[in-house]
Amino acid sequence: MKVVFLLPLILAICAANSIARKNKDEPEKDWWQTTIFYQIYPRSFADSNGDGIGDLNGITSKLEYIKELGVGAIWMSPMFQSPMYDFGYDISDFYAVHDEYGTMEDFEALIKRADELDIKVVLDLVPNHTSNESMWFQEALKGHEKYYNYFVWEDGIIDENGNRQPPNNWLSHFRGSAWEYREEVGKYYLHQFVVGQPDLNYRNPDVVEEMKEIIRFWLNKGVAGYRVDAVNALFEVDKEKFGGKYPDEPPSGKVNVDPGSYDTLQHIYTKEQNETYYMVYDWRDVLDEFKAKDGMSRVMMTEVYAAIENVVKYFGEGDRQGAQMPFNFDLINDVDSTSSAADIKRAVEQFLTYKPVDKDANWVVGNHDNSRMATRFGPPLVDGINMITLLLPGIGVTYMGEELGMVDGYISWEETVDPAGCNTNDPINYVAYSRDPERTPFQWNAEKNAGFSTANKTWLPVADGYETLNVEAENAADRSHLKLYKALADIRQNKVFRYGRYESLALNLDVFAFRRWHKNDAYVVVVNVKGNDHIVDLEYFENVDGKVQVELTSVDSPKNKGDKFDAAALPVAPYEALVLKVK
Ligand code: NOJ
Repeated sequence: MKVVFLLPLILAICAANSIARKNKDEPEKDWWQTTIFYQIYPRSFADSNGDGIGDLNGITSKLEYIKELGVGAIWMSPMFQSPMYDFGYDISDFYAVHDEYGTMEDFEALIKRADELDIKVVLDLVPNHTSNESMWFQEALKGHEKYYNYFVWEDGIIDENGNRQPPNNWLSHFRGSAWEYREEVGKYYLHQFVVGQPDLNYRNPDVVEEMKEIIRFWLNKGVAGYRVDAVNALFEVDKEKFGGKYPDEPPSGKVNVDPGSYDTLQHIYTKEQNETYYMVYDWRDVLDEFKAKDGMSRVMMTEVYAAIENVVKYFGEGDRQGAQMPFNFDLINDVDSTSSAADIKRAVEQFLTYKPVDKDANWVVGNHDNSRMATRFGPPLVDGINMITLLLPGIGVTYMGEELGMVDGYISWEETVDPAGCNTNDPINYVAYSRDPERTPFQWNAEKNAGFSTANKTWLPVADGYETLNVEAENAADRSHLKLYKALADIRQNKVFRYGRYESLALNLDVFAFRRWHKNDAYVVVVNVKGNDHIVDLEYFENVDGKVQVELTSVDSPKNKGDKFDAAALPVAPYEALVLKVK
């Protein structure tokens, strides 16, 4: 009798167990865990009205292209009202669309079209600073107390000659003092970036609340989350602990740094203050308020160039959740065309090693602040690097143009507009600082301005070589970076890449390889990072023997899909990259 009563319970437990086991092998993943995030720099993607500047309607008109890439989410660099001293990272109205980019209706139309195509839209939140043309700063200058307290003010120092000097030695990322004097209030304000980007004061609860309102405002318009700009600069040290004066930062001790540059100091009082992490966890709570309403996760990606131990703190702490994607910049910071296979292995493994076991890795190889991937690694490695970023375990991030192998453009001193370049005042060495080269217009076709704009002059010139390196040409070619990219986005959906485990080897100085496997399926990805021929033995990987079969190849590979090779003696051509099915 008892057994009869217990039977449903026993069956239920068995069913639950089998579900649990299945879920362990193939856990259900959320939208952001399996997608590719595609970064759009709005000024340079597509110009719909012929003024030489990209805009929102331009982006909307190209969403189908993004869909065809196999990308499920875009993140757009700032499209808010701005005087453009730092090309949108100086926001004068956080609640409005920048007029050169369109209107709020254009933005809503973009969201609507993206929704129809099932593409999530992520915006850029710039919480550390505003624009000196914002109403907040203008009111602060007029002595409006509420807004005065939005910013970080400090008295100057009078030197022995009776001249007023900045309060301390803090430097701007873009050179020179991080302090600017304002006659109107008789004080200096802090700007860790350009003079036109006054820092907000996160020790003021009103600022904290205002930023949460901004987050909610755009979430209410349907965005799926935020990339958070310069987040480790949010808090400065609490000056009350230093007798009410912000202390000098110590010298970095770095050799070979340019005397006026930001790198000459160790930023122990302006970066990575502990309060920053808790602010990020609070923002995650705001995102989760929205998830609680409709079940859809809103995502946060944090932009932090820091030691890995600090980068991973943004994931959360204890039961506080933080960003799902603290950006992993190791493949930007630590490797380039001079790197060996072992360097690549080490760079790849750093994030995998330090991230919490239950969190996802993400792979970033470029953005609007760094020389393009094809330039840093060299054009022959474009396919190999795209294979690495899209087939490693974790979330793929692509900066627009990486799918084409776009390279940095040449921008003369006269044409340079980026403050990081202009502020050097150096017509020779500005190139080492300017970010204009990676921001040149997107290359759609071989026509005027690469199909980006019908204007006679675009805000930055189009990069050389666009006649052959563009979407139209690459779609028409038998083999192209673009076609491979789409194939990678496709194969990424295979369970091996979605759920599979990972191991990697530097097979010799030049050949980096990794194996992904799930149940009885396995692939090996092989990338030769140098221009030498090799024969490699893939049997150093466990469970790889007999034949391997070519699934995908880099553009110049002599191999074809379906070709079979002995795993123990695979010939690898210079810069060749392969995805091989293990039999
Ligand atoms: C990081 C952004 O990516 C960069 O473009 C900008 O200049 C700084 N933060 C300041 O907002």
